[in-house]
Order: sequence, then C-alpha cells, then structure tokens
Amino acid sequence: MDPVPHPAPRLSLLSGLPKRVDVYEVGPRDGLQNELRTLPTRDKLRLIEALVQAGERRIEVTSFVSPRWIPQLADADELLKALGRREGVVFSALVPNLKGLSRAVDAGLEEAAFFISASESHSKKNINMSIAQAVATAREVTRAARAEGMRVRGYLSVVWGCPYEGNVPVDRVVDICRQLVDGGIDQLSLGDTIGVGTPRQTEEILSRLLEHMPASKLALHLHDTRGTALANTLVGLTMGVTTFDASIGGLGGCPYAPGAAGNLATEDLVYMLHGMGVETGISLERLVEAGEIAQELIGRKLAGKYLQAALGAREKAARKKAAESAHAPG
Ligand code: COA
Ligand code: ZN
Repeated sequence: MDPVPHPAPRLSLLSGLPKRVDVYEVGPRDGLQNELRTLPTRDKLRLIEALVQAGERRIEVTSFVSPRWIPQLADADELLKALGRREGVVFSALVPNLKGLSRAVDAGLEEAAFFISASESHSKKNINMSIAQAVATAREVTRAARAEGMRVRGYLSVVWGCPYEGNVPVDRVVDICRQLVDGGIDQLSLGDTIGVGTPRQTEEILSRLLEHMPASKLALHLHDTRGTALANTLVGLTMGVTTFDASIGGLGGCPYAPGAAGNLATEDLVYMLHGMGVETGISLERLVEAGEIAQELIGRKLAGKYLQAALGAREKAARKKAAESAHAPG
C-alpha cells in the first residue's frame, strides 16, 4: 500500500459547536396547517402532550389567524385554554394582526409569532399584504404583544428562494430583518419555506445578517424538501445559531409540492445534535413515540428519516422474535 503523503486534515469545521441548542417545535402549527384533514382538538392535545413528555420546551401549538384562511386551526382559542400553562414549557402561536392578538390575550398566550415574507408575491398570497404593510403590522403587533407581557417571535419566509419569484436578494432580507429587530422582537426565525437552500447560501445569508444582529436573535426554520436541511443546520451551528425549528416526524409536507418532504423532522435534528454532543434536553426515544402518535392521528406515514428507521428496526425485531418463538422447541 502506498504511504499516505500527508497527515489526514483535521476537521476544524466542527470545533466550535454550542454545548446546548433550543429546539423549537412547529409540528402542531406548521405541520397541521398543511394537512388536508382537520384533527379534532382532543387529538391535537394528545400530540402536544406527547411532545411535552419527550422534553420539548418550546412548542408552537396553533394560529390565531382567520379561520377562513386556515380552517385546520380554527379551534385555537379552545386549544390554548385546554392546554393551560406548564412549568418550563412555552406554548406559542401565530398572531398575524391585532384581531388575532386580542384573541390570543383572551386565551392566555405567552409567546406570539408573526410572519412576514421576503418576496412581494409570497406576501400577497400568504397574508394578503405588501411587505411594507406586513412590516408595519408586525411592528404594531410586536408593540401591543409586549405591552401584554408576551414574548414575540418573527418569521421571515422564503429567505432562500420564493416559489413565485425564484431568487430573493440578500439585501432585501437584511433590510427587513433589521426593521423587525428594531421593532423589538425577541427572536427572528429565518425560513427556507420551500427547502431550496444549500450550505454556501446559508453561510452568505447568515454572515450578512450577523453584521447587524447577534446570532442569539436568530433561529433557522429549514424545510427538508430537497434533503439539505441538516447541512444548512450545521452551517448555522458553526456560525453561532442556537435555535432550530423542526416538526415532529417532518409533519406538514410542502404545500407547493404534494408528497414532498416539508419541515425538518425533530427526530432527525435531535439525532444529529446528540450524535455531535450537543444537548437538547429531549428524549429521542420519546420523540419516536410522539412521531408514532402523529402518524396514527393523520393516518399516513411521515417523512422523518430517523422515525422510519426506528419504527422499521422495531418491526424487524418483533418479526424475528415471533419467528423464533414459533420455532422454539416445546
Ligand atoms: N382571527 C380571526 N379572524 C380574522 C383575523 C384573525 N386574526 N384576522 C382577520 N379576520 C377576519 C376578519 O374579521 C374578516 O372577517 P369578516 O369578513 O367576517 O368581517 C376576515 O377575516 C377578513 O379580514 P381582513 O382584515 O380583510 O383580512 P384578509 O382577508 O386580508 O386576511 C389575514 C389577512 C392575515 C388575517 C389572513 O391572510 C390570514 O389569516 N392568513 C394566514 C395565512 C397563514 O397562516 N399562513 C401560514 C403562515 S406561514
Ligand atoms: Zn415550516
């Protein structure tokens, strides 16, 4: 065998990972809003309970949006009241306008999240407002929510690319983010809504934003439609981001591509983080149980890879055991 000419290079990429990361669960909201079937409130409560039992501490549970726009989440008020408060757990919900905020206040919401798009066409289609109108509304909602003692989270969608316009200029992203952060939000979640992002692009977007705000203000909301969500997560981690959005089992799919994977699956994210020694406080085993419940409730297999691998291995072990006991003497 030829001698190795140089010592193998040491990976410096992974030297500066954070010790602990916050996983922000969006399955009950982002996931269920994209399902055709509307779940009864008691089923949603069962799923959320399983997520809490798995150790999830930040869970977006519903939306106070117009029920005509998202009928799947029309039970927001009832759901939040039934959930009540849990020690150490923050339940949040989408709140697009002051009307939504007044419903959220009545229901006892602790953290409000609003959404803005980084492209005009997506903004018009999603919330029926121009970007400028949406930013003004978001700042108004932020002020009012903070006055109620709520934490406020902002989402910026289609940062990596828009289904209608394609490329989204980074300058525009930076400009919108600065206005939202100036408006007083606690956290800004950057969305790869259609799952087109690649690592170099993620590095470019984050490095431009980090000139204006600390990494602690940012979260990544990555869809796994083309299998790049974990690669982009890794870039975020190495650049100091410590909050990542994910959805149990990858629940949600992608509204623009039927059958395609949607949100990054919580178990896939947690598996990678734990494997690299990054703590989350979440039990992977219990997440699989929650993923099973999610599959049962919506009546189909979910896209999460860890979930399918774990369930497949369990099924194989059960088959083996059954075959052994069938052949056992006596
Ligand atoms: N909760 C309940 N009802 C609401 C509401 C809210 N937060 N906001 C508006 N409405 C009602 C209004 O009262 C009005 O009802 P009426 O016709 O019976 O009087 C109707 O919805 C239309 O109101 P309008 O202010 O004209 O809003 P719109 O139709 O332009 O919709 C949004 C604006 C933001 C409310 C709507 O686009 C929406 O809810 N979008 C959600 C999209 C979403 O969640 N996408 C996924 C997030 S990434
Ligand atoms: Zn999403």
